[in-house]
Amino acid sequence: MRYSLLNFVVCPRCHGDLTCVTVSEIECGVFPQGFKPFDRVSTGPGVGPVPATAATTELGAALARLASPAAPPDRNYEVAVETGVLTCGACGAWFPIIKCIPEVLSDHLRNPVREQEWLAGISAQLPPELVTLWNAFRLRSAVDAGAHHKLAEIALPASITDPFFWGPGHAAPFNLWTPEHTWHLIRNLVVAEPLLQLVRASVVLDVGSGYSWTTEWFLRSGYEPIGMDITREYLEIAIHRIGINRPHLLVGDAECLPIRENSVHAVLGFEAFHHIPNRPAAMREFSRVLLDDRPVLLVEPGGAHEHAAVSIEAMDKYGTLEKGMDLADVAEYAVGSGLGDCRQHFMYRTSAGLAPVALTANNVYTLRKGAPEGIAAVPVEPPPSVATPAPPPQSAFRRAVMQSPLGPVLKRLKQLLVGSRT
Ligand SMILES: C[S@@+](CC[C@H](N)C(=O)[O-])C[C@H]1O[C@@H](n2cnc3c(N)ncnc32)[C@H](O)[C@@H]1O
Ligand SMILES: [Zn+2]
Repeated sequence: MRYSLLNFVVCPRCHGDLTCVTVSEIECGVFPQGFKPFDRVSTGPGVGPVPATAATTELGAALARLASPAAPPDRNYEVAVETGVLTCGACGAWFPIIKCIPEVLSDHLRNPVREQEWLAGISAQLPPELVTLWNAFRLRSAVDAGAHHKLAEIALPASITDPFFWGPGHAAPFNLWTPEHTWHLIRNLVVAEPLLQLVRASVVLDVGSGYSWTTEWFLRSGYEPIGMDITREYLEIAIHRIGINRPHLLVGDAECLPIRENSVHAVLGFEAFHHIPNRPAAMREFSRVLLDDRPVLLVEPGGAHEHAAVSIEAMDKYGTLEKGMDLADVAEYAVGSGLGDCRQHFMYRTSAGLAPVALTANNVYTLRKGAPEGIAAVPVEPPPSVATPAPPPQSAFRRAVMQSPLGPVLKRLKQLLVGSRT
């Protein structure tokens, strides 16, 4: 975790500012490429500078007493936090940073036994006063009808027996066995990227980033992306693949974003939104964290996704949700969220004289914060075919060949070739 993630990450329970208590750091390889500056970088292991917001709890007072002054902001690009604790002086919550990945989940999705054991393992390196207060902190229960799906996502690694299951993550988005899938993914990102309307150093929240190849590409192209997923294993593989010049990555739930309000330029859900149980809640969260007039973009496999054999198998085997959607569903989920102007986007290949050929099987949807609710008042059907001009007159040679016994064979071959392109 780079310290400047705290420009964007807040407590998921109360949206309070977090303080970083660092146990160990590692080398960071991110180039300072015009990102938002951060003025609370720690000087090293210990209690980092506290936020300016007054903390009224006992924990908040202890943090203020133990805090170090801020290091020069450039230190943010020299080191990253490997092990530590993020803690909220406003409500008393604490969240682990394990193997560089902060886990900032809502209380009811956390595993207190695992986390307490982890805290006990590093407590000798932490101020005893803080450890006592964190041990006294109690998680709250919540009413969440879709929690079983989310807990199934979190527990997914434990149910995987196939040793090759995680293999694709080490090369994502490239897939040596199915090149069509590789290019399908890249084509979808090519459709999505301009719709996000980003400029250098724009902040994009990649929700359900999984192996985080989209997050990685955004960093490489000069944006400041934040990859967030509910399952840490995907992010660990992302770190292994990407190396030290990597984007912000964290564990969090799309329905309760640990992200500051009005702080991001775009939200992307790349093949992820069909996993979310409470979609209206996620839409409200996207709207809360977005700056005004900025987009949400969903790349989705389509309304019939839950009927595909592979989806049925995943739902049966792992208990995760694979529920597809169409444009009307997206508009419905967004009602009352502050997001509107719902649109579906298509990508076609065409040139003068040829009818457009659809290149994206996926569905790409956008919504915009502050826009009028519902589907945008524009045609949502694919554009009409380009009128095909009259073919040029055939040459005498070509006419002779086509009228010979070879003609029908060539004609059939042409049909097959054209067919295979569509
Ligand atoms: C099909 S994968 C797509 C991953 C990635 N965007 C990509 O295209 O490679 C869906 C991802 O959504 C994540 N996910 C599911 N439910 C989530 C939730 N409630 N909050 C955040 N991420 C979630 C899953 O863990 C998984 O990594
Ligand atoms: Zn809090």
